[in-house]
Amino acid sequence: MNTILITGCSSGFGLEIAKHFLDRDWNVIATMRTPRADVLPASPRLRILPLDVSDERSIRAAIDAAGPIDVLVNNAGIGLLGAVEGISMTKVREIFETNTFGTIAMTQAVLPHMRERKSGVVINVTSSVTLKSLPLLAVYTGSKMAVNGFTESLALELAPFGVRAHVVLPGRAPGTRFAENAGPRMEGNIPESYAGLAAAVFENFKDVSQVTHARDVAEAVWQAATDPAAPVRIPAGEDAKAWAAGA
Ligand SMILES: NC(=O)c1ccc[n+]([C@@H]2O[C@H](COP(=O)([O-])OP(=O)(O)OC[C@H]3O[C@@H](n4cnc5c(N)ncnc54)[C@H](OP(=O)(O)O)[C@@H]3O)[C@@H](O)[C@H]2O)c1
Repeated sequence: MNTILITGCSSGFGLEIAKHFLDRDWNVIATMRTPRADVLPASPRLRILPLDVSDERSIRAAIDAAGPIDVLVNNAGIGLLGAVEGISMTKVREIFETNTFGTIAMTQAVLPHMRERKSGVVINVTSSVTLKSLPLLAVYTGSKMAVNGFTESLALELAPFGVRAHVVLPGRAPGTRFAENAGPRMEGNIPESYAGLAAAVFENFKDVSQVTHARDVAEAVWQAATDPAAPVRIPAGEDAKAWAAGA
C-alpha cells in the first residue's frame, strides 16, 4: 500500500488532499504545525505528525517518525500581499523560509530514500500567480516561481533514478484559510502612494466567477501521484487552467 506525506494539513488544500488519499485507501501521514486529530476522519491508515517546515529539527523528527514515503506533497505555504517598498525584509525572509526553503529542505530529506528505492514522487504546490503576474504579490510570486524552477530542474535530475517531481499550480481559492492566515502579515504593507492600486486589487478579488476549490487541487495532486505520464506542471482549478492555456 502506498504512503503519502503532506505538509500543512490543518486546513485548506492540505486537509482536502489528506481526505482524498484516505478515501482511496492510501496510508496518509498528515503533518501539521499544531497536530489536531479532529479535522480528519479516524482511520488506521492515518497518522498525524507535528511538522514545521521552517524548522530543520522538526523536519528531521517528522521524517524519522514517518518511515518510508512514496509521495511527498509540499503544500504548506503562507501568503503576503503588499507593495515591495512597504514590506520588511523580515517578512520577505519569513515567506521564503516557508514557501521556498521549507519545500527544498523537505525534498532533500526524502530524496536519499526515494533514490535508493528507485521510486517516489515529489509534488510541490505553487500558484497560478506564477503563470500570470498580479501587482502587490511580488514577494509571494517570487517565492513560488523559485519553486517552479527548482522542481523543473529537479525532475530532470531525478528521472534517471525513477523518481518524479511535479508542480501543482492552484488558482485563487477564497474557500481556504489562506487570506485569513495572511491577514496579520499584511499590516502596514501598503504605503499611501499605493492605496489606489490596492483598492483596485481588492475590488478584483470580489469577482468569484472563476475560482479554485480544494478538491481541484486534491485531484491534481492525485494525477501527479498516480499517473507516471503526468506533466511536470499541473494547473488546478478553472481559473488556473484558463491562465495556463493563455500563458
Ligand atoms: N488559497 C489560495 O488562494 C491559494 C492559491 C494558490 C496557491 N496556494 C498555495 O496552496 C498552499 C495551501 O494553501 P491554502 O489555500 O490551503 O491555505 P491555508 O488554509 O492557510 O493552509 C496553509 C497550511 O500551511 C500550513 N503552514 C503554514 N506555515 C507552515 C510551516 N512553517 N510549517 C508547516 N505548515 C505550515 C498552515 O498551518 P497552520 O494552521 O499551522 O498555520 C496550513 O495548514 C500554500 O502553499 C499556498 O501558497 C493557495
